[in-house]
Amino acid sequence: MSAASLLDLKSLSAQDVERLFSAARTLSGESPSGRGDFERKRGLTAALVFFEPSTRTRLSFETACHREGFGPLVLDANSGSSLEKGETYEDTVLNIAAMMPSVMVVRCGDDVDLAGLSKRVPCPILNAGWGRRGHPTQALLDAYTIHARRGGLRGQKVLIIGDVRHSRVAASHFELAGIMGYEVALCAPPEFLPESATVPVFHELRAGLEWATVAMTLRVQLERHSGKADLEAYHRDFGLRPESLKALPKDGLIMHPGPINHGVEMVVEVMRDPRNVILEQVRSGVLIRQALLRSLWERKA
Ligand code: NCD
Repeated sequence: MSAASLLDLKSLSAQDVERLFSAARTLSGESPSGRGDFERKRGLTAALVFFEPSTRTRLSFETACHREGFGPLVLDANSGSSLEKGETYEDTVLNIAAMMPSVMVVRCGDDVDLAGLSKRVPCPILNAGWGRRGHPTQALLDAYTIHARRGGLRGQKVLIIGDVRHSRVAASHFELAGIMGYEVALCAPPEFLPESATVPVFHELRAGLEWATVAMTLRVQLERHSGKADLEAYHRDFGLRPESLKALPKDGLIMHPGPINHGVEMVVEVMRDPRNVILEQVRSGVLIRQALLRSLWERKA
């Protein structure tokens, strides 16, 4: 990789991504406690700074830190941090950086200048979800899961369903699809589509699912909406249900980055569909984040 920080995927080549996948594949065969070089890394820390809520991303980075020998320092800025006393995001990041972690993993809103901060801190910053701009490790773990299940990425047809306009996950897939040669199309009501879509758009779920090899549905991100979304109408037209999923090929995949709103993006029965790989995405998340941390360490060593 050209730069140590990972703020987006644009700077990665297909080879970089393949190398990461190959490291994740190796890790998937290792016992989590089987690493022998913890001594070497004793004292290294990774600061996980979360200005927005998170379950999967935060805990999988934390798990990856434990498995790779980085002591995780976790700041959940929403409970008990000095932001409550008026400290700025910028000062928070700079103060944590002054404690000399080996890497910082940051989740923040669009209003934080993460790119500017990455030039001012002495360690790499990994973007763990930056406003609507991108969520590179989520797209990487999704792509790794698709690659593992479907034997490759080239030519796969990923239908991104739902609130694309507010989704950093979709933004990162637009970047990664170009690098790895998979196709992306969107399926959503007009108010959830980006202002200008550069990929094909399906206005009906059935047609989209017939085209797709992967149905990736997104949470309706009410916290980023200015108006009120009609969730019932959305579920009626775009919600995944056993009947609607008949249109998806039998060997297709059903994905969701989580958290799921059951009854909105999908009904709970979809969790039992054999094509559903949502928990596998979570497992992949730990591997990809471990592989990333390891690659940072190896670059330094
Ligand atoms: C996503 C996020 O935070 O961007 N979730 C995740 O990281 N697994 C998607 C979402 O919040 O809907």
